[in-house]
Amino acid sequence: MSDPTPITEQSVEDAVEAALRAAAEAQDSAQLKAARAAHAAEASPIAKLNASLRSVPNEQKAAFGKLVGQARGRINQAFSAREAELVEAEERARLAAEAVDVTAIAPRRAAGARHPLSLLMERAADLFVGMGWEVAEGPELENEWFNFDALNFDEDHPARAMQDTFFVDPVERHLVMRTHTSPVQIRSLLDRELPVYVVAPGRTFRTDELDATHTPVFHQIEGIAIDRGLTMAHLKGTLEHFARSLFGDEAKIRLRPNFFPFTEPSAEMDVWAPNAKGGARWIEWGGCGMVNPNVLRSAGIDPDEYQGFAFGMGIERTLMFRNNLTDMRDIVEGDVRFSHQFGMVV
Ligand code: DAH
Repeated sequence: MSDPTPITEQSVEDAVEAALRAAAEAQDSAQLKAARAAHAAEASPIAKLNASLRSVPNEQKAAFGKLVGQARGRINQAFSAREAELVEAEERARLAAEAVDVTAIAPRRAAGARHPLSLLMERAADLFVGMGWEVAEGPELENEWFNFDALNFDEDHPARAMQDTFFVDPVERHLVMRTHTSPVQIRSLLDRELPVYVVAPGRTFRTDELDATHTPVFHQIEGIAIDRGLTMAHLKGTLEHFARSLFGDEAKIRLRPNFFPFTEPSAEMDVWAPNAKGGARWIEWGGCGMVNPNVLRSAGIDPDEYQGFAFGMGIERTLMFRNNLTDMRDIVEGDVRFSHQFGMVV
């Protein structure tokens, strides 16, 4: 063992001062730990002085013992006090770093927009739901029987070719991309108990080139009501209510005779659009009529007991004259800036 350090008031005071300085200079817990090891632990100057007490003459032991004991007390107290300070400062820094400003404005992300076609179809469906009707759907890849035969199209009826159908390979499977929403009439009648009041908005397909007024993928909304004693007056009243909800209170409906295989009599319907761009006028809106008895028979319904009406109109077309759009391609292209103009009405 090396010679014990001689104990003097000066050597004790030096050890204390060095320790207090080291404690004060420590800037964080890690530095403080190192300082404590150097100035208060086993091999530190004060520990060595303490060990030297053994070689102090007996009569001086008490006085030097007290001197060293008080010195160790001051050193330990200084380290404890500095430790408390540093722990508190570190805790404060940690809380400041983790602080969340609940009043801060979140970075904005453009959230897109709902497509006006979706909005219009929902609005139309909602109106009918409000009158107690149901909303129905059917497949877009449709059986030819539902799309044509059950709707009373003859095998070689020109209407079959007229509708510019996408036939789907292999032809033996008799699948088509539905050319209208009318097949949902048949599906609804087969699925439901009578009476039936159903609207069916949905996507439809025809072999048209995309241009300002045509698109090969478009949308229609179909309506069918089958009950006892329904007449064309009910049809006209229903259409007029629909027209007023979309085009304002002054809107009205005009029916012109026409032909559809699935209705008899059939009519083309025009809507009086009071707010049309360029002035109020009649606008061709869609087709309608009293459901042909053959259609009812296709669905197993006795036409002597039940009758009803049906109608169908294009959604793109409705949107175009309702909102004064001039180019169908704006509707199709999916530019969010187009959709944004219609707002976020839900
Ligand atoms: N399905 C017809 C079309 O796409 C529209 C139509 C006309 C639907 C008369 C009907 C109707 O329900 O009764 O051109």
